[in-house]
Amino acid sequence: MFHDQEIYEQELELIFRKSWLLVGHESQIPNVGDFFLSRMGEDQVILSRSKDGKANVFLNTCRHKGMRVCRYDEGNTKLFYCPYHAWSYDLNGDLKGVPESENYPESFNKKEWGLIKVAKVASFRGTIWATWNEEAPSLEDYLGDAKEGLWYGLGPWDGGDGEVEVYGGVQKWNIPCNWKFVSENSGGDPLHNISHMSTDLSKIGPREGVGRRDPFGELFLTATGNGHGLIFEKVPLAKPREHYQLSKITSEYFEDCWRRRIDRLGEKAGSPMVLANIFPNAGFHTQQPRVFLMAHPNGPRSCQAWRMFFVDKDAPQEAKDFLRPYYISYSGPGGMTEQDDMENWNYASEGARVRAAKDAPFSYVADSGSFKDPFIPGNVSKWWMTERNNVAFYHAWADRMGY
Ligand code: FES
Repeated sequence: MFHDQEIYEQELELIFRKSWLLVGHESQIPNVGDFFLSRMGEDQVILSRSKDGKANVFLNTCRHKGMRVCRYDEGNTKLFYCPYHAWSYDLNGDLKGVPESENYPESFNKKEWGLIKVAKVASFRGTIWATWNEEAPSLEDYLGDAKEGLWYGLGPWDGGDGEVEVYGGVQKWNIPCNWKFVSENSGGDPLHNISHMSTDLSKIGPREGVGRRDPFGELFLTATGNGHGLIFEKVPLAKPREHYQLSKITSEYFEDCWRRRIDRLGEKAGSPMVLANIFPNAGFHTQQPRVFLMAHPNGPRSCQAWRMFFVDKDAPQEAKDFLRPYYISYSGPGGMTEQDDMENWNYASEGARVRAAKDAPFSYVADSGSFKDPFIPGNVSKWWMTERNNVAFYHAWADRMGY
């Protein structure tokens, strides 16, 4: 399952063609005509904002002879012109212009030759998702019990109704690993933290002194169904959630947000979601650094990782400027934590295809038990030494694959 081409092809059909997939964020296409070139599995898709205000998702494949109709990562346009023979499509993906159309037979109906649209598009707290599956449940049903944690995690720091925005460009790079290693990691793999020891001893965090982040409170894992894995944190309410000595304005902003969050959410404020993987490959890091991670499959031993960083839209500019270098020194191709992870994923993918090892099972059996928590959904496990979320991910994977 980590290296076989045939299994990989089945994954594209049975998992990536059937699931809801994260394709972008509302803040990337705020205006009519805005577009963002995204991916669903191996397929390149265009996410666009049409005149009716809707977000649309369609294949970036010309219906004439397959050329890409859009070759920019993002931008604003009225039409997508195919550079090959100049067919043009509007922001809904409908075919509008065909040069020399008088030479086409009467039976040629432009309405039948629009760009291929996904079956469904839906938004959740600013994130935009799409699926090719006509039979897919609603996005809300698909997210199930992951919804509430994700709702607050994807919202502003103060737990209110404000917005967040993708800040800066999208970092994209290829990793020679199977996409599932990335999903496992985002959705609940507590023991891998040991591999960040060297980063913890360096100084990339937003505080003074060594470290890569704010100290965590106590961490808890929960698998909420459909293969989704989430990690929550419990922190004392009395303690300001962020305090960055290196930037007074940033510190004050987050401390003020934390106070407002407690006023709004009460006890629940102390149990924020910090990490998640929404099956199959939508990763979220919702405490600093705040990041979306899409691990797009490129083959059984390769994936293309996309990191999109986000900040509160109404945060002071100094806070955004302060966070940006921190975010990219933590995550992404230049991020120290990410580089630790990539070493693991690269070599685990390589190790999994060694002939003598390939038919032997991996263990995935650690389980420290579970309990119910008033604020965290599902069966909750303490952070340390449990592979419950990974097991839930692979149960969902096996169900979809028909095993
Ligand atoms: Fe697009 Fe011919 S391939 S117009």
